[in-house]
Amino acid sequence: MKLVFATHNQNKLVEVRLLVPAHIELLSLIDIGCNEDIPETSDTLEGNAILKTRYIKEKYGYDCFADDTGLEVLALNNSPGVYSARYAGPTKDAQANISKLLSELKGITNRDARFITAIALKINDTDKLFLGICNGSITNSPRGKSGFGYDPIFKPKGFNRTFAQMSIQQKIEIGHRGKAIRLLIDFLSE
Ligand code: IMP
Repeated sequence: MKLVFATHNQNKLVEVRLLVPAHIELLSLIDIGCNEDIPETSDTLEGNAILKTRYIKEKYGYDCFADDTGLEVLALNNSPGVYSARYAGPTKDAQANISKLLSELKGITNRDARFITAIALKINDTDKLFLGICNGSITNSPRGKSGFGYDPIFKPKGFNRTFAQMSIQQKIEIGHRGKAIRLLIDFLSE
């Protein structure tokens, strides 16, 4: 089975490749010659994931899946949520996003947060959605060098390390993306 993972994010690709079984041939956007940015204009994670799969199916004809992820911080009314990538501006700069989040949380003791990954799958004429949630909290300062995005300031519940202080293998075992991808894989093997 050939399946495109509709992302330009190499970090997401590395994480997902760790879980996808060998009988599924996982293609990246580069593999299919898609270099353009796929519009993400929805105001929900699910909506954006669906937009990406629809775009790839219509333009390139491949069965595919797409991930849209957001970080919800309880004390900030679940912001940045679906706007996580552009939280500190249109350049989608991870350091700037982290700095802005830490400054918004200055002096706030409730640091509860969660990552949510929505995965849309488009296969033959079927559309499916899978959700993965990881509860945790925002640290007072960045820790660790692994991962990407908000990983240096997100500590999953029950752990004393941030995602950026874990191996990719461990992050995918306990994290939001791993949970959603495992649901996708279960569906595909039914
Ligand atoms: P998107 O799903 O690529 O739109 O990501 C939205 C924002 O969340 C971007 O700023 C990403 O860097 C960040 N992000 C997505 N997934 C993760 C993750 O697994 N860990 C940390 N940050 C993430």
